[in-house]
Amino acid sequence: MKINEHTILEGPRVLLVPYNEEHVPRYHEWMKSPELQQLTASEPLSLQQEYDMQKSWREDDDKCTFIILDKQRWADPGVEEEQCMVGDVNIFLTDPLDPSLAELEVMIAEPSYRGRGIGKEVTRMMMGYGVTKLGVGRFQAKIGLDNQVSISMFKKLRFQEVSVCNVFKEVTLELTVDESVRTKLLDEAANVTERDYRETRSSRHQLVLH
Ligand SMILES: CC(C)(COP(=O)(O)OP(=O)(O)OC[C@H]1O[C@@H](n2cnc3c(N)ncnc32)[C@H](O)[C@@H]1OP(=O)(O)O)[C@@H](O)C(=O)NCCC(=O)NCCS
Repeated sequence: MKINEHTILEGPRVLLVPYNEEHVPRYHEWMKSPELQQLTASEPLSLQQEYDMQKSWREDDDKCTFIILDKQRWADPGVEEEQCMVGDVNIFLTDPLDPSLAELEVMIAEPSYRGRGIGKEVTRMMMGYGVTKLGVGRFQAKIGLDNQVSISMFKKLRFQEVSVCNVFKEVTLELTVDESVRTKLLDEAANVTERDYRETRSSRHQLVLH
């Protein structure tokens, strides 16, 4: 999706930036991990296929992708952006007949960043963006039945189980954006600042850390 190609979303501990070519090599390294392939139900791709995928995620109108960066590391202009990457978060508009339905995916690829509340922070940020910028009215998450951490995270975020597919060994969780969900997401969005990615990159050291 082009909508976020110059967008940076600043949360308390992370930054969400558009997925660019420069992120592909690290992303490709991550996806060599059999554990991540299994947890995210992904097939390994060649480096060239990963570049093609990045391009399609940028161009296709049904996919919105951000790379998650460690905000504190990024505030040091001496550290390459690639070295600040933590994972990614995506929205897929899966139903052409219902553009308000969004499948949500999140991956904290760096194991040392897991279990510290970052998954929840990022998911909330992405949901806020989805509701306010993409008009999402219902979120879905499809998760492997063995991935208890992810299932538990989405349940904490008030998603409810709607179906189990034993063939694909996955559960589908959903959250409808009613008034109370919307109000909560908008309240949380008060902690998120949207900036211009190009401008912010040239003044990384001015990022205020709390
Ligand atoms: C699943 C994932 C996104 C969760 O992100 P995270 O940053 O590790 O999780 P958080 O620290 O924000 O915790 C969110 C919730 O997950 C659950 N959780 C986190 N770590 C857990 C653990 N080790 N065991 C059990 N539950 C755990 C808890 O319910 C937690 O909520 P709580 O802190 O209020 O108790 C992340 O672990 C990840 O990306 N893993 C690898 C890839 C993957 O599985 N992606 C999802 C594909 S569907």
